[in-house]
Amino acid sequence: MFTKDGKAKDIKTPKIVQEVWHNGEWVNWNDARVHVMSHVLHYGSSVFEGIRCYSTKRGPAIFRLREHMQRLLNSAKIYRMDTDLSLDQLNEAAIELVNRGGLEQCYIRPIIFRSLDEERPAFGVNPFPNPLDCYIGAWDWGKYLGDEAIEQGVDVCVSTWNRLTPNSMPAMAKSGANYMNSQLIKMEALLNGYAEGIALDDRGFVSEGSGENIFVVAGGKVITPPLSSSILPGITRDSVIQIARELDIPVVETGIQRAALYVADEIFFSGTAAEITPIRSVDKIQIGTGRRGEITRRIQEVFFQITSGEREAPGPWLTYAREHKKQAEGSESNNGHHKAEIAEPKTSGAQPDTDPMATYRAVATD
Ligand SMILES: Cc1ncc(COP(=O)(O)O)c(C=O)c1O
Repeated sequence: MFTKDGKAKDIKTPKIVQEVWHNGEWVNWNDARVHVMSHVLHYGSSVFEGIRCYSTKRGPAIFRLREHMQRLLNSAKIYRMDTDLSLDQLNEAAIELVNRGGLEQCYIRPIIFRSLDEERPAFGVNPFPNPLDCYIGAWDWGKYLGDEAIEQGVDVCVSTWNRLTPNSMPAMAKSGANYMNSQLIKMEALLNGYAEGIALDDRGFVSEGSGENIFVVAGGKVITPPLSSSILPGITRDSVIQIARELDIPVVETGIQRAALYVADEIFFSGTAAEITPIRSVDKIQIGTGRRGEITRRIQEVFFQITSGEREAPGPWLTYAREHKKQAEGSESNNGHHKAEIAEPKTSGAQPDTDPMATYRAVATD
C-alpha cells in the first residue's frame, strides 16, 4: 500500500462519499471545510471514530455502530466537549450517510472538534470559547496494512517511542492529539522498513500498535494488555475476546513484557482499519512458524464470516443500512415516530451483547 520508505501511496484516490454530515445538515464534500485558525488545528482538540461498513448479501452493514458512537461520546465527555448530539442521532446520521453514498462497503469517519467562531474569534489554549463542530464522512478503504498482510502477516518492530502515560493524555479517549504519538511510532517503523511499530507503556509493558490493539498467543491462551497499559479500548479487541470465548479459547488480560513477544507462539493486531492482521516477526525475530498461526487463523476466519454477514455474531453487531432505511420508512408511514432497530436482534447462541460500554469491560486476569 505504501512505497518502501512509506512516503507515497501507490493506490488510486479512494472512492469518496460526496456528501458529508455536518451538525445535522448535509453538505457537499467540497464544502466540508474549516478556518485555518480553528482551535483544533493548533491544539489538537478533536475526538473521532473509525467505523467499517462491510459488503454483505443484505447490502452494506455497519460493524458495531452503536459501540463506536458511544466511544465517540465518551471521548468527547473526557475532553469536556459538551455536545448536544445523542447516540441515536449519530447512529442515524451514519446510516443515512451509507445509504446516500451508495457504496457497498466503506469506512466511516465521525469527528467532533473545537472550531472557530468567526464573529467572536478566540485563539488561546482555553477551548471553552470555541464552538464544537461534528462531521461524518465516508470513503472506500481497503486493507490498512496491505492485502497480503491478512494472510501472510507483517514484520513489525518495538518502537523507541512509548505510548501515552495515563495521566498525561488518556489513551482511553480516541482524540486526534493522541495520534501525534501514533505518527512518531508509525513513521519510525516505516522508515526502518517495518509495516508497523508496537509501543510499550511508560513501565515497559506492551501497550499497542500505532493504530491497533495487540494479542499474543502462548500455550493455547490468547493474551492481551489491559486498559491500564494505555491502550484504546478497541472495539475489534472486544470482538476478538468474544469470538475467542465462543471458540472456547481462554482469554487473559494481563501485563505483557516486551521479551514475551519474541517467544510467543503467535501474535496479531486487531483494529477497525487493520481488522485482524497476523504478525510474523518482531524486531526481525521470527514469531512461531513465521506465518499466520492456527489460533489467529481461526479467530480471523470467524471475524470475517461475521463481518460478511455469513455467520451470526455473539451480539447485534451488524446494522444493515438499506434494511434500516426501509424499516424506518415503513414505520414512518405507520405512526410517524417509531425508530427502527440499529442492529439486528440476536436469535440464539451466546449472550447478546448490547451494552455500548462493553469494550471497557475487563476480562480474566492472570
Ligand atoms: C491507537 C489505537 N489502538 C487501537 C485501535 C483499535 O480500535 P478499534 O478496534 O476500535 O478500531 C485503534 C483504531 O482505532 C487505534 O488507533
